[in-house]
Amino acid sequence: MGESFLMVAKTMSGLEEILANELSDIGATEIEIANRAVSFRGDISIMYKANYWSRTALHILKPIANFYIRREEDLYKKIYDIKWEEYLNTSGTLAVDAVVNASVMNHSHYAALKTKDAIVDRFRDLTERRPSIDTENPDVRVNIHLFKNLCNVSIDSSGYSLHKRGYRIKTGAAPISEVLAAGIILLSGWDKQSNFIDPMCGSGTIVCEAALIANNIPPGYYRKSFGFEKWKDFDSELWGKVKTEALSQQYEFENEIIGSDISRESIEIAMENAKSAKLHKDIVFQVCSFEEQIPPEGGGIMVMNPPYGERIVPEDIIKLYQEIGDGLKKNYKGYNAWIISSDMNALKFIGLRPTRKIALFNGPLECRLAKFEIYEGSKKTHKNED
Ligand SMILES: C[S@@+](CC[C@H](N)C(=O)[O-])C[C@H]1O[C@@H](n2cnc3c(N)ncnc32)[C@H](O)[C@@H]1O
Repeated sequence: MGESFLMVAKTMSGLEEILANELSDIGATEIEIANRAVSFRGDISIMYKANYWSRTALHILKPIANFYIRREEDLYKKIYDIKWEEYLNTSGTLAVDAVVNASVMNHSHYAALKTKDAIVDRFRDLTERRPSIDTENPDVRVNIHLFKNLCNVSIDSSGYSLHKRGYRIKTGAAPISEVLAAGIILLSGWDKQSNFIDPMCGSGTIVCEAALIANNIPPGYYRKSFGFEKWKDFDSELWGKVKTEALSQQYEFENEIIGSDISRESIEIAMENAKSAKLHKDIVFQVCSFEEQIPPEGGGIMVMNPPYGERIVPEDIIKLYQEIGDGLKKNYKGYNAWIISSDMNALKFIGLRPTRKIALFNGPLECRLAKFEIYEGSKKTHKNED
């Protein structure tokens, strides 16, 4: 065990508890849930594992300082005082992300600029040279979080967002984030012992994430790089161990994962993505409409991200959701169906009583993830029931 330190994993609203479970599974301690974030402790190997294994984390931050500011100028002064030379070389590159909430500083862009100036000025004063800015692929990505008067300064061990797994080479009109897709599957409680189907799979994100989960492949397996690989304290041997250990933990999946879509073009894209993840042997793809799709017998989990009428606008959204309800009742007995949509009204026209409703965000769109348990004689509801 190395020295333990505090970390903060950022996630999407509604996925905090799932992320906390994931962090507990890899051995993190002192786990605390916050809004769109989970704080935890662990050593450097836990930091590597959190980046490699968390399906629902967006960034793993390592806080390095926090302080109060009363005026805008305080930010520059306090940032200047941090020993940045411990984290970055003069010849290195730097980027700053800032999130500002109800603070003395109103603009995140301005806060990021002042932070960058303070770091660069400190180097110039110490060495007469300065690190340069690289917003795409910096050696150190600094994260500033200003809430009211409190400023938290972290370095981002992930680098670019962890939702960018690396296997999705093409997308359709309205792709779901890989982190949200994985979060929905984990929320569904899928036991990996039963069938899994997405009958409106688009570019295949949900079925690819399901296949990763089913085979216990880390979501970070395909990524080209992580922020921590450029840090001064990077331990390549330990990182190698984390990856080798993960390889030995993969297992075979016996049941069926099916992705289908009415659009041939979408299925072609989905197949390319699955192939790039080397998951094409685990997923059966079909071009067919939801109405024609007959899922395998034996029950399982169905997850669906139908059009919401936002980015994909169907001719008659109410009719589409009514047809989804009819198809569920007719063909999906023995399945638990999880449907995410931002169209709360259309969801009512599925005509089945949801047994759970979970608030999630798909990008800026507030959504409901509704669970329908389909069994013989599933109860119909009045379409206006909430
Ligand atoms: C929001 S997109 C799904 C995006 C997908 N989750 C992804 O990550 O790419 C909705 C998909 O539903 C498909 N679709 C619409 N109506 C359908 C129907 N009746 N049967 C099957 N697929 C349908 C569309 O072709 C589209 O690919």
